[in-house]
Amino acid sequence: MHVYLPATTTVFYVLQALWIASAQKVPASVLSAAIDLLDASHILDLLDVVDAFGHVSVRNPVNSSQFLMTFAIAPALATSQSIVTYEVENATAIGLTFNSSITGAAVPTGFAERFIHSEIFKRFPDVLGVVHSHTQEILPFANQDCVKLVSQIHTAPSVGSEGAPVFDVRKLPKNVLPDNQLHDLDIRTEALGDALARMFSVDSQVVLMRGHGMAVRAPSLREAVFSSFYIKQDATVQLQGILLGGGKAPLGLNKREVMDTATDAKNRVDRAWPPLDSTS
Ligand SMILES: *[C@@H]1O[C@H](CO)[C@@H](O)[C@H](O)[C@H]1NC(C)=O
Ligand SMILES: *[C@@H]1O[C@H](CO)[C@@H](O)[C@H](O)[C@H]1NC(C)=O
Ligand SMILES: *[C@@H]1O[C@H](CO)[C@@H](O)[C@H](O)[C@H]1NC(C)=O
Repeated sequence: MHVYLPATTTVFYVLQALWIASAQKVPASVLSAAIDLLDASHILDLLDVVDAFGHVSVRNPVNSSQFLMTFAIAPALATSQSIVTYEVENATAIGLTFNSSITGAAVPTGFAERFIHSEIFKRFPDVLGVVHSHTQEILPFANQDCVKLVSQIHTAPSVGSEGAPVFDVRKLPKNVLPDNQLHDLDIRTEALGDALARMFSVDSQVVLMRGHGMAVRAPSLREAVFSSFYIKQDATVQLQGILLGGGKAPLGLNKREVMDTATDAKNRVDRAWPPLDSTS
């Protein structure tokens, strides 16, 4: 189910962000990142990649030790006044990106699972965008060990040819997930976020999470959105291929094909979602 924001409402929020940004002297690059973040939230909702509980983040373009993400709100409902600046170091909320009058205890803590984002940004300095979702199509591949999700289509090189890694909280040592901590599969601590971030392989930009969803990393926010959508498509195609082939594994992309389509991915993203300056 989606909550559609009318176009006029979206335009209003963008204009509001522009106005607030000029009043608060937010750098132009941060404003662009924030507008992209709102668009990303709404696009991921529209494409049914995220439900009401997914989240997307972007590294702060003027300070790589910080990232921008909304507080705990459904992505469809994100506005400039829901964007929070967080520390990469510990996922602590510093303040609202567009409202410096909110300070101290009044600053919302953010998603319980914000550690997914902080630990991925911490571990991979080149990553500028992260998505966490509960996309149903990928869950069959997260919930068993027999069939690995692999790149099936040339729009999904981010999955890789070797099989997307699966993060399973049951395999974690007690010092990462102690007995006295909730075993609800959520990534509620730095230690859990770190364990998840360590699961990424060179070959794959996604980690599937058993019984839960996925985490996607990318060199830009837009690529994170692009990858997330096509990872969902990829899972559908692979499952359909398995069914159609009577259980036989469908042909996936090989290493060379993955490498070459990944090289071309940036151009595809720019066509699907052109840079702000090229559309004005
Ligand atoms: C960058 O972010 C870190 C962490 O929030 C902060 O300590 C530092 O002062 C910031 N740097 C600048 C130049 O604002
Ligand atoms: C989080 O990390 C920052 C440094 O990046 C530090 O200034 C701040 O005190 C830390 N906050 C908590 C609650 O540990
Ligand atoms: C900042 O938040 C305060 C308290 O919610 C609100 O009154 C004010 O209008 C907000 N400022 C902007 C620029 O939206």
